[in-house]
Amino acid sequence: MISKKLENAINKQINEEIFSAYLYLSMGAYFHSLNLDGFAVWMKAQAREEMSHAMKFFTFLNEMDGRVSLLAVKEPEKNWKSPLAAFTAVSRHEQYITGCIDELFRMAGSEKNFPTQIMLQWFIKEQVEEESTAAKIVFKLNQIKDSVSGLWILDKELGGRQVNS
Ligand SMILES: [Fe+2]
Ligand SMILES: [Fe+2]
Repeated sequence: MISKKLENAINKQINEEIFSAYLYLSMGAYFHSLNLDGFAVWMKAQAREEMSHAMKFFTFLNEMDGRVSLLAVKEPEKNWKSPLAAFTAVSRHEQYITGCIDELFRMAGSEKNFPTQIMLQWFIKEQVEEESTAAKIVFKLNQIKDSVSGLWILDKELGGRQVNS
């Protein structure tokens, strides 16, 4: 039901999603170290969401009679210059992930693997949301600049995040 090439590419994507979880968990630790616990709550929720993405690919590959193969997870960065630098990195990382999903979609298309394309549609929509959310927070942090009170207000807002997947 699935080619070796596509199976390998989905296994690579499982690794990318787990790395995303690892990166955001590392950012959560960074924000806790700054006593920005609301930012940390947001990052930990984001990490759980990335693990759920990894599991969607894991489940799909099994359903398609493929073999899940887990690869080594890279060590994430641990420090950023500022909350703005961290969220700029989130934004860039999500753009990179969008590129990976797009490439998978193209590969599934060239193999006429329609179930994989349909599965990937969820991720294509999800990436629009991920990029937009990150861009909005980067925008707010740019406006906040060095305002401590602004940072605390955003910390309170981000701390209210609920996990919905
Ligand atoms: Fe993801
Ligand atoms: Fe993401």
